[in-house]
Amino acid sequence: MTHLGRLYDLLDDVRLPDGAIPYSQVSSWELRFLYLLGRHHLTGGDRLVELGSGGGGSTYALALGLRESPVFDERTGRLHAYDFFRVGKGTFASEKFFTSGSRPEGEDSFLDDFRSRLEPFLPFLEIHAGDLWQTSDPLDTGPVEFLHVDIAKTARVFRCVTERFLTRLRPGSVVLHQDFAGPRLPWLHHSTGALLPYVEIAGPPIRSTLAFEVVRPIPEEVLRRIAEDAYTVDEKLALISAVQDRVDLDHTGGIPFKPVLEFAKAYVAHYAGDHRRAWSIAKPLTSDAYLSRTRADHFAQVRRAYEQERERGGGGSRLGRLVKKAVGR
Ligand SMILES: C[S@@+](CC[C@H](N)C(=O)[O-])C[C@H]1O[C@@H](n2cnc3c(N)ncnc32)[C@H](O)[C@@H]1O
Repeated sequence: MTHLGRLYDLLDDVRLPDGAIPYSQVSSWELRFLYLLGRHHLTGGDRLVELGSGGGGSTYALALGLRESPVFDERTGRLHAYDFFRVGKGTFASEKFFTSGSRPEGEDSFLDDFRSRLEPFLPFLEIHAGDLWQTSDPLDTGPVEFLHVDIAKTARVFRCVTERFLTRLRPGSVVLHQDFAGPRLPWLHHSTGALLPYVEIAGPPIRSTLAFEVVRPIPEEVLRRIAEDAYTVDEKLALISAVQDRVDLDHTGGIPFKPVLEFAKAYVAHYAGDHRRAWSIAKPLTSDAYLSRTRADHFAQVRRAYEQERERGGGGSRLGRLVKKAVGR
C-alpha cells in the first residue's frame, strides 16, 4: 500500500462539522480526503498550496485537518490559498461562493465571505487573490509539500501551474488533481502520464480527484515539455493510455475512468484541430452508459466541430488536410 493509501481506510469514519463547511464544488468524499491529508499526512514543513479555493469548502476541510494534526505547527506552517475570489467572465467561479448563495447587487468579490467562513484558520492561511499568473511568484522556488490543483480549467492556467508549482515538487510532495474526471481538461491526464515514472498514484481516484505522491526527483526536461505543451498528439494519447493502465473505477465505484480518459484523448485531437480524429475516438464512447448519461454536451461539441469541418470540406483525408495546411486554406 502507498503512504497515502492508508488514508482510504479512514474515509468512511470522517465526520465533518455540519453547517461549518462553506459551499463546495467538490464532493463530500473529496472533502473527507482533504481533511485526512491535513490530519494524518502533511507536516507544513514546506509550502502547502491550494490552487482554486473558490468559496473555501476545500480549504476549510484541509485546514480543519491541519488544525487537528499532531505535527502541524500553526505558528510556522502556512496554507496558501489562490483564487480570483470574484465572479465574472472567465473566472470559473460560481455565485454560490457568496455566503448568501448569490451575488449581491453591485458586488463581484466573495473574498470577505471567504475570510469570514475561514476565520478560525486565518492565522495560518495566506490568501492570494487575483489571477494566478499575477499572484504567484515566478522567482519563488521554495519546495511545495502539498499541491491541490482545482484551478487548471484552461491550458493557459495549467501552464502557470506547471511552471510555478510543479517545478517545486520534491520526493514526498503530494498532488491532488481535481476534475480528473473531466475529459475537457486532457492536460491533467497527459501531464500525469508524463510524470508516472516519478510518482506513485495513491489508489483509485476519489470521485473526480486523483492523488499522487512524488517518489523520485522529476527531471527539469519533463517539466519543461509539460509546461511548453511540447508533446505531439500521438505522444499525448500514449501518455493518457499509460494512465488508463493505472486507473479504473473511482473509490466509490461511480466513475469509470478508462472511458473517461478515452474521451480525454478525443479532446486532445479536438483542441489540436483534428476534428475527424476527435470524433472517431469519441463516437464509440457514445454507447458507454456513464459518459452518455453525464457528458452529452461533450459529445455534441466534438461531433458539431467534426460536422462543421466536413461541411467546410475539411473532413477529407489526412493528405488533404496536410495539403490544405501547406497552402494555408
Ligand atoms: C472549481 S472552482 C474551485 C472549487 C473549490 N475548490 C471548492 O471547494 O468549491 C475553480 C476556482 O478556480 C478559480 N480560478 C480559475 N482560474 C483562475 C486563475 N487564473 N486565477 C485565479 N483563480 C482562478 C476560480 O475563481 C474558481 O473559484
